[in-house]
Amino acid sequence: MEKNKIKIAVPASVSNVGPGFDIMGFAIDVISDVITLTRNNHEEIVIKKITGDNGKLTYDPNKNTCTVGMIHLLKYLKLNIGFDVIIEKKIGIGSGLGSSAASAVGGVFALNELLDKPFKKKELLNFAMEGEKIASKATHADNVAPCLFGGFILIRDYNPIDIVNLPFPKNLYCTIIHPQIEIETAASRKLLGKKVDFKKAITQWGNVGGLIAGLTTNNYNLIGRSIKDVIVEPIRGKFIPFYEDIKKVAYKSGVLGCNISGSGPAIFTLSDNKKIAIIAARKMQEVCTQNKIVSKIYISKIDKQGPKVL
Ligand code: HSE
Repeated sequence: MEKNKIKIAVPASVSNVGPGFDIMGFAIDVISDVITLTRNNHEEIVIKKITGDNGKLTYDPNKNTCTVGMIHLLKYLKLNIGFDVIIEKKIGIGSGLGSSAASAVGGVFALNELLDKPFKKKELLNFAMEGEKIASKATHADNVAPCLFGGFILIRDYNPIDIVNLPFPKNLYCTIIHPQIEIETAASRKLLGKKVDFKKAITQWGNVGGLIAGLTTNNYNLIGRSIKDVIVEPIRGKFIPFYEDIKKVAYKSGVLGCNISGSGPAIFTLSDNKKIAIIAARKMQEVCTQNKIVSKIYISKIDKQGPKVL
């Protein structure tokens, strides 16, 4: 091992993207967590410092999303070596922007780099998913995969995992509003129940197909028509204050589509030009401000790279 220290930035991500619950997501390039690993002289992983989490995250490496995947990776390689870890959270915890996925991906990506890349990116996915599982109490890759690979990702299957990197139109802009409340993914998943109405399922898979067709053929109108969710959004939307009002002004601004980002409370829109993306941001934030809800807005293109070494 040549290097002893590495610092990386890991992007936030939007998952579900309307109809694609647990199977679709894309990375964004305006918010990233920063993770630093330094080789230590012990045979264990030590979390030295966490910032930006308001004291919410654990320093126990066996329970922290960032380090769990690292522990699995080291065990797999039968390596008895240790690292000091610094986690700088910039992606809000419980924001719906793939905060836990960024930690999980960041840990294993940085470790793999320091070890001179024993694994290909694709092989890192399972280790990162171990970390994500700790946070959401479920195995899903719709934040982890776009965060790791960048781009717009479809998870065609989980058994075994089959990742498809989708093409997308050049002028796709994402606007995000993050009302400053917290929604825990694990709790929000419990609300969803176990059965899906057959008619709704038909509508949903029609929209998944439509969204993919729209992305691959640069058909902005079809992308917009397909960002619909008749299964999860009706349940989760109720927990996001003024969700319907925010959505209404977004569509009025001319966005192609608008829906919940991951399990919320962040809300995303897609637009075919930057001007509309900016207007939508302003209008959506006005709704929050008028109702005394503090919010943050982001405007981003789709991030194509995933983690970056700093
Ligand atoms: N697909 C997951 C969910 C993403 O909606 O529960 C969580 O961020």
